Amino acid sequence: MMPTRSTEEPFPALVGQIDSPVQLGLPFALRLPSNLLPHWDILAGRYFLARCSDAVGVERDSDWSIFLRCPLFVCGRQPRAQYDRWQLYLPTGTEGFARGFPGFKKGQSSGVDIGFRWLAQRPLQGLLNLLGPFGNGFTLQALAHNLLILVDYANDPAWFWRLFSLCERALDRGGRVTILLRSTSEKEIADLIPLLPVQVEVCTATNEMDWQAQLLLTVGWADRICAGIPASRYRELLGAVQETRFHVDKNFAQVLVRTDLLCGVGACLVCAIPTARGGVTRACVHGPVFDLIALVD
Ligand code: FES
Repeated sequence: MMPTRSTEEPFPALVGQIDSPVQLGLPFALRLPSNLLPHWDILAGRYFLARCSDAVGVERDSDWSIFLRCPLFVCGRQPRAQYDRWQLYLPTGTEGFARGFPGFKKGQSSGVDIGFRWLAQRPLQGLLNLLGPFGNGFTLQALAHNLLILVDYANDPAWFWRLFSLCERALDRGGRVTILLRSTSEKEIADLIPLLPVQVEVCTATNEMDWQAQLLLTVGWADRICAGIPASRYRELLGAVQETRFHVDKNFAQVLVRTDLLCGVGACLVCAIPTARGGVTRACVHGPVFDLIALVD
């Protein structure tokens, strides 16, 4: 079956076909209709919401829990003759709003988000019902520049996969890319490094002192920073930027926030996060990528 658009949902959905084995904590490939986003668009920070159930008809009318969708962030896309082959990251699923939600049957939770666990059991060539793509992703300058990618892999491996596609995009524009990876050991990230384009300069930090030193060093020459780090490190990053630059330009440092994403359209408020001005904003529609100075001052 070819990927298609479904009209059965309250919102028009997409039906994609699984094109590689699905595993928790890794990207998998999905065939989707061509041209969902223009081909020059930056994909890092964009996401789909996947329906985590096969339920149809009466069952669907009586069990609203199936409308709790799980976010799948985009890691890449390759155009094919009749469809696009997307790579989507399936989280390890140990965090998540849906786990233990009253709508789910007792005994189904085993420490992994029940929606992600359902997705991990989908067979090759099975179909997935998606909404999206949603979100404002990272932005890069049009001209060649020095891009610094910060990834706190020790905090969550998802950061690596969610920012991964930025490397190719920046290199395509003739830029230079450095990635600074924080991990608990060199061994933990040994398998990731060969996946990066050979032109990418890789810096690693396996303890806090190394991280701080490398951060100051790499931030100093960057023209743009794209970060996958927890909110607890935002102030530290802003401090490093302020120490090495007289003025922090708009969008100089961008962060992908971690929050629950359920509706993707600004309706449920589960993704609300605090802003630097003391307000709140909905990450699903105004992010999930934000200018660092919009979140901390
Ligand atoms: S995910 Fe529902 S308002 Fe953002």
